[in-house]
Parts: sequence; C-alpha cells; structure tokens
Amino acid sequence: MSRHADYDAIHYAPDGVTFFSRAAAMMREIYAPLCAADAGGVKSSITPFLSGDIKIDKMHYVTKPVSRMDLRAPLRNFFVRTDEGEVFSLTDREDDDAAEVRIGQLWQRLINRSPRLGLELESLHFVPVSGADVEVMQVTVRNVSRRPLGICPSGCIPIFGRALVNKHDHEHVTSLLHRTEQLREGIVVSPTMSFNEEGHHPEQTRYFVLGAEEDGTLPSGSFPTMDVFLGDAGTLDRPGAVVKGLSPVRLEPGELNGREIAGALSFHRREIAPGQSCSYSLLVGQASSREQALEIYQGLRNRELIQQAFEECERFWHHKSGSIVLETADARFDSWSRWVMIQPVLRRIYGCSFLPDHDYGKGGKGWRDLWQDLLSLILIEPEAVRGSLVDNFGGVRIDGTNATIIGTAPGEFIADRNAITRVWMDHGAWPVLTMLLYIHQTGDQEILFETSTYFRDPQLSRSLRKDAAWTPDYGRNLKTMRQSVYHGSLLEHLLVQTLTQFFNVGEHNMIRLESADWNDGLDMAFERGESVAFSSFYAWNLELLAGHLEYLQEVKGLRQIRVFKELEILLDSIGDYPCDYDDAAAKRRRLFDQYYPAVEPEISGEQVELPCDRLIADLRRKSAWLSAAIRFQEWMTVEDNGQAYQWFNGYYDGQARRVEGRRDGVVRMTLTGQVFALMSGLASDDQVRAVITSGERFLKDPVHGGYRLNTDFDVRNYLELGRAFSFAYGTKENGAVFSHMTVMYAYALYSRGFAREGFEVLNTLYRMADHFSFSRIYPNIPEYFDSTGRGMYAYLTGSASWMVLTWLTMAFGVRGYQGDLVIDPKLVQEQFSSEGRAAVTSSFAGARIRVVFDNPQRLDAGRYQIAAVRLNGEALAVSAVPGGGVCLGRDQIASANSCVEILVDLAEKTL
Ligand code: G1P
Repeated sequence: MSRHADYDAIHYAPDGVTFFSRAAAMMREIYAPLCAADAGGVKSSITPFLSGDIKIDKMHYVTKPVSRMDLRAPLRNFFVRTDEGEVFSLTDREDDDAAEVRIGQLWQRLINRSPRLGLELESLHFVPVSGADVEVMQVTVRNVSRRPLGICPSGCIPIFGRALVNKHDHEHVTSLLHRTEQLREGIVVSPTMSFNEEGHHPEQTRYFVLGAEEDGTLPSGSFPTMDVFLGDAGTLDRPGAVVKGLSPVRLEPGELNGREIAGALSFHRREIAPGQSCSYSLLVGQASSREQALEIYQGLRNRELIQQAFEECERFWHHKSGSIVLETADARFDSWSRWVMIQPVLRRIYGCSFLPDHDYGKGGKGWRDLWQDLLSLILIEPEAVRGSLVDNFGGVRIDGTNATIIGTAPGEFIADRNAITRVWMDHGAWPVLTMLLYIHQTGDQEILFETSTYFRDPQLSRSLRKDAAWTPDYGRNLKTMRQSVYHGSLLEHLLVQTLTQFFNVGEHNMIRLESADWNDGLDMAFERGESVAFSSFYAWNLELLAGHLEYLQEVKGLRQIRVFKELEILLDSIGDYPCDYDDAAAKRRRLFDQYYPAVEPEISGEQVELPCDRLIADLRRKSAWLSAAIRFQEWMTVEDNGQAYQWFNGYYDGQARRVEGRRDGVVRMTLTGQVFALMSGLASDDQVRAVITSGERFLKDPVHGGYRLNTDFDVRNYLELGRAFSFAYGTKENGAVFSHMTVMYAYALYSRGFAREGFEVLNTLYRMADHFSFSRIYPNIPEYFDSTGRGMYAYLTGSASWMVLTWLTMAFGVRGYQGDLVIDPKLVQEQFSSEGRAAVTSSFAGARIRVVFDNPQRLDAGRYQIAAVRLNGEALAVSAVPGGGVCLGRDQIASANSCVEILVDLAEKTL
C-alpha cells in the first residue's frame, strides 16, 4: 500500500480527532480502548469484529480475558434473521468494502452492510463516565432495500464472570459456581464464590447482560447458556438458536446453573419499512446486587438516555485529550497527537496490562512507570497530581530501593506481586525528574518539605540481606529504634535514592545493574553487571538536586536541611570521613558496611540540620566525579569500513565485560547507552555529534526509519546479560524500534540544542505509526515497532508521556521554571504553516493558555529568536532566560484571565 493509500486507510473527520476506516474493518487484531473515567471502573478493548474483553480488575472479568491472538475469537455480536431465514450479523463481511469502523474518544461505531439482504447494521459501543460498571452496545438495524423487511433480532455477549487466572486454571469448575437468573430485562449471573490457591471467598458480584428496544420495550426473552444458544453444531458466529430461528427459552435451575453463559437476548419480530430503522441496546457489566444492576439498566433504558450518556462520554474524553492541543502545519499529525495525549490517561486507568498486548496480565503498575506517567499527567491533569506524588514516596525504602508494584489505593505498595526479591537499579532515578517538573510547573516548593514514611518489608540492603524476623504484623513502615514510625521530608527521600546509588558500584566504578535497569530484559547480570547508562542519569540527578537547593538557598533563603543523622555517612565530604571516589571497593564499603548497618532494620530517628551550602557542594562533587568518569572512561571508538565511530559504552555484563564495541566481528551499540549521557549534559557537544553520527549508522532502521534499541548482537542467548537477547532480533527489548527510548533520545537532543535532530527522531516515530499498512494500529504511539514496522503494544506505554513532555516543553518550549512560564521554542521550519504559524494550547497557573508563534519568514530552529510577546493583545516586557527563551511571571498569567492568548513574534536571530 502506498503512503497515499495509507492516508485513506485512516481518515480523520472534521473534528480532527475521530477517524474512520474501511481497511481496519477487515482486520481482526486491531483494537481500541473503551473505559470508565477512573482506574476502578470498566476497562474494555474492542476490535472491528467486536472481539476484545471487558473487565474491572484481575478478579473480575465480565467477559473472557484476551491476549492479542484471542482477538480472532468472537465476543460481542448482534444477529438479524429475516423472515426468509437469512442471517446477517455485525461480524459478517459480505465484501471488502461492506464495513466501516469509526473510532472516537472513547467509542467505536461499526457499520456493516449486507447488499444481498438490503440491510445495514450499525453498532455503537462506549463506557459511560457516570461511574456505573457497564459497557453499552447500541445497535441500529436499517432497511436499505426497497421492500419491507421482516426481522427477528438477537444480541449476545458471553459472560465469563470470573478471575483472570480462570482463563485456564479451574476454567470449568469455576463455571460451576455460576447461579443465573433470567429476568425480563435479560440475564444476571451471580457466582457463588471466587477461589484459587490463595483462598476461597464468597462472591457478591453480579454480572449482567440486559437489553431493550429503543423505546424501552423489553426483550422477548433470552438464551442464557451456551448450550441452548449455540446447540451442538453452532458457534458464536453461527449460533444454532439464530440459524434455526428458535424461540427464547425459560430454563430450569438444573439446566441454568453451573453453566457457561452465552448472555444472549432475543427481541420481538418486527417489520421495517424501506429506509426505516430501529434500534436495540445491550448493557453488559457488573454490579454489587441484582437491584443495582437494574438501577444501571433504568438509567440507560431507552435511546434518549443512551444518547445522553454517549454525549457525556464524548465530552469527557474530548476534554481530556484537549488538555494540550498542538497546531502545526501538518493537520494529520495534529490529529494523531490528540490520540497520544490521551494515552497517559489510559495508562493511569489500565495500568500496563489490561489491553490485549501486555507483558503480564495482572494489573497494577511498577514504580518506574508510575513516575513517568506522572510526567505528562502533571501537564495534562495538574490538579490531580500533588496527592499522588506525595503518596508515592511512601514506597521508598531506607536502602534506596522501593516497593515495585503499586496497589490501587493511594500510598498502597506491594513489594512484588510474585514475592520475588528483585531490585531495578534505575528506579531511584525517576522521582527527581518528576518532582522537579512538578515544582517548575507549579512553583510549589513546599512539597519538598512535606513528610512521608519509608517502606518496610523483609528486604534489606538492596536485596542482599533479608530480615527473617520481619512479619506483616510489624507493619510496612520503617521504624525508629524506639519503635515509632519514622517520617522524613520528600527531599530526604530523594537524597536517599540518589546518594545510595552513588556508592553502589561495580568493578568499573559504575552503578551496579542489579536485577535490570529501564530495560527489563537486561536481567541476568546481577553479580557483576553495571549500567553506565543509568549512572549518567544519577550523575544528572545529583546535579539537579544541587542546582535546585542552590535556587532555594539564593532565592528563598534556605540555610539548613533536616535529614536523619545516618545520612551523613553518605554525605562524606560534609563529615570527617571523606571517601575516595576512585576506589570502587571503598564506595561499596561505605554503603554496605557503614550506612546499611546504621539504618537497618531500624534507624535512630535522630535528625540533624545540614548547612545547605555544604550539601550542595557534596552533591556537586559527586556529580562531577561520576560525569567525568563516564565522559572519559566510557567513551569508545569503533572502526567500520575505514571510518571511526564513537559513542558511549552503556553496560558491563555479568562477567564484567564491556558490552558495547566490536565483538566477534559484530558491532554492538545500544541507544540506551547514549540517551542519558546526552540528556544529563555530561556529553560534550562534540560527543553529542559523534553519537548522532553513530546512531544514524548503526541504529537507524534503513527501511522504516526508526531508531532501534540496539544493533544485532548476533547471539542465540546472552546469558551474562539478559533475556532480551534471546528474543528474536527486531522484537521488543532486542533491537525493536522501542518508542520510549527513542522519544527520550529526541528529548535529549532537543535539550542539548539539537532541535533539527530531535525533530527528525520524533518524526520517525510518527511516520512509522501513521504508516498504516505497516503499523496496522489505530492512531497512537505503541510501545515498539517490530522489524516489519508493525506497531506492538498499542496505547499503554511510557513513551506517550515522554512524547507529550517533549512536544510541549521542548519543541514548543512552553514550560515552567520555578513556577514562572518560560517560552523557548525549538520548532523546525516545516512545523510552521505556510503563513509561518504554529500554536499550542495547554494549562498553566490555573489558566488555559494558547501560545501562538508567528514566524513569517518560516525560519528554521536555531535561526530565530523571540522578538516580541503580547499577552491578550498587550505588549509585554519579558526577561530573557540564559540559554534561550523568555520568562513570564506566574502572576502575569494567573491574573490575566482564565483564557490567555500569548502571541510570540519570532524574527531572525541577531548575533
Ligand atoms: C515497557 C515497560 C517499562 C520498561 C520498558 C523496557 O515500556 O512498561 O517499564 O522500562 O518496557 O523494558 P513501555 O511499555 O512503558 O514503553
């Protein structure tokens, strides 16, 4: 398919968000999300063939759980049987052009025509944002023939009504728990209990499929079980009851209970005149009682009520994805960006696992993902973020690690779902970035001095020791030796996560890889592995914290910082025991032989006041040491075809061997190894240029254009580094175009002033996603693209959060600085319209702001500067920011209006 044909494959409507597609209507594995407004509600996936699943959490799957391959099996359907005995359903396809799917935020419409029967079926699917646990399916049957049509309609949504694990474990015996009622409105299933190896619990949940005609007329009856609906020969595509035109049944308890549930409702026969239509609804969901199920039903019992709920749903999601709106020269890109905008919100709701592509299927999400999703949520949903930020710190352990899995309640942490003790060395790196973004956007410095507890479980000393005496009765909070729960400031928590890592080094004096870093697949080098990649990140954090404290000292007059006494062990230059940073063993001793014995299993509880300037100097000293070590020790050169290429080594493997470079004739390079060296600022400009050249040469996919996570190491397994290298090359963490790392690469390039290169890198991802015949996904940024260019793991990826962050704060350059607003655009020429305009709308200081850039000469990034700024029409005196851009005081925005328009004139840069 040519690119032109791709444009027709996904066709955006005039609203710039909704799209329709005939090509997608013929695809079984493409899916869209439908969900409630919050994480506790319905989470569904839906394909053009109406497959997918509907669930609340891992214990409550309304319909059978699906992974991608299961999407070829049917789920929701609606059948029309004509008086002549012909059957047509929503999932039949009479020819390649007969069906069309329309997708909006967050709903799906499927239109399916039968030219043969003169029938058109249209279904609308959405989850109301009212808080009810229900998914709505509304079907309209149209007579597009020239004669009256007599029809018998029926709809079906099989109810699973069990836990995720029962997709296989105890699948049959858990169906025996079903107690089913046939009501006039439909079917209610009430499992008697849920059970698994963890225990047996009486179950209160009711699962239901209820239906009505458009005016509220009740269904004519039901076929509750698979047995009666399908018959011996039938399938969900061709159910015996429909094919044979059977009348609905009333089953005796012996036939009804302990069965697999078809959830099939049948409606009264009727005649439709030519050109006329009639509609039906099926409501599927869960409730805590039959009465509650019927209450939900009452709220959606006819066409008008469903229409109201639909409009509310549309408004809600439109508003969410409209939190940040980009206007560039490429309207198609702008539309695509509206779908990326909604992805971080989707990940807040679905976690990482509740769509058909998932790494694991149990829900929840990990520490790293939590902090990264917050990056964009700070920009998209700023009002909701402060509480989560504060709560999250309760997951930090005093050894610098943290609980890995986050429960559903705020501040609820679980060490690891599978009770395996693992430590990801990158975890402590993410909170600094997110906290500082929050503070810069809001000016809320006080948050750093809020206090929180520390997490406690049997794990000690970065998993190297266990506290055999610990039991849940002791409690999940760190205690002092006097047995009171210890509270420290959030700043102190950040210092703990950063300082411990500075000392946690391997043989090359780089931070230990432990159970893995960001790349989950580097999980087999616990003993001797080191991550240079994330050592750069920690070096950056040391400097970021120092810089921020310096600001607080100079501008806010901060003189002392209160921390627990034992932390001084790691602030070696403040006390009397300086540590020789060149001596890796001495560093480890400092951490494992001095600090951990002092704070584990309990700390003294004593706090000390540290002079702010001494703390800043200590952090800077550490940052400078680590940055220099990486800059010189890890910079390497590889000859290829007579040319020298240079880049940073990112890792040491489990045998303490350098991972990158040429080995066995094969060039090994990783993108991760480069990104944080650039982003942190430790790489010189020349090093940035060399990395760009090497990346182009070794990582850029010549066919599809994206940047791969690594070159092909050409190994069957790499047991000294991790499982990633056992994946086929070009998939997931072994050399796929991994969006998250690619976006962070782009961010790093922008932040280093390489705007053109940053744009090109981001653009490769957009082009790949938009190339429908390869990507085969709806508009969104997927987790990765495989070697065929196929988009994998749609919607739920941290890359969306970073993309939003990069667009807003880097490309458009609209970002907070200590609560004020900085405008520092790095847009490239082709992002400006033919009139030289580009704009972004977002929120700042409680106002909706639209920043419009006027660049009448369409100058490229780097060639323009800000010539004038007008706020709601008034020329504004703004101060220039060192390093680029201008700064507007927070008060100027806050006092202006709830709607602020900022016009920024760009003119040729003067030297
Ligand atoms: C996923 C995980 C993330 C991990 C990454 C690489 O990325 O969610 O925690 O760091 O794989 O292993 P995502 O889907 O967020 O892009």
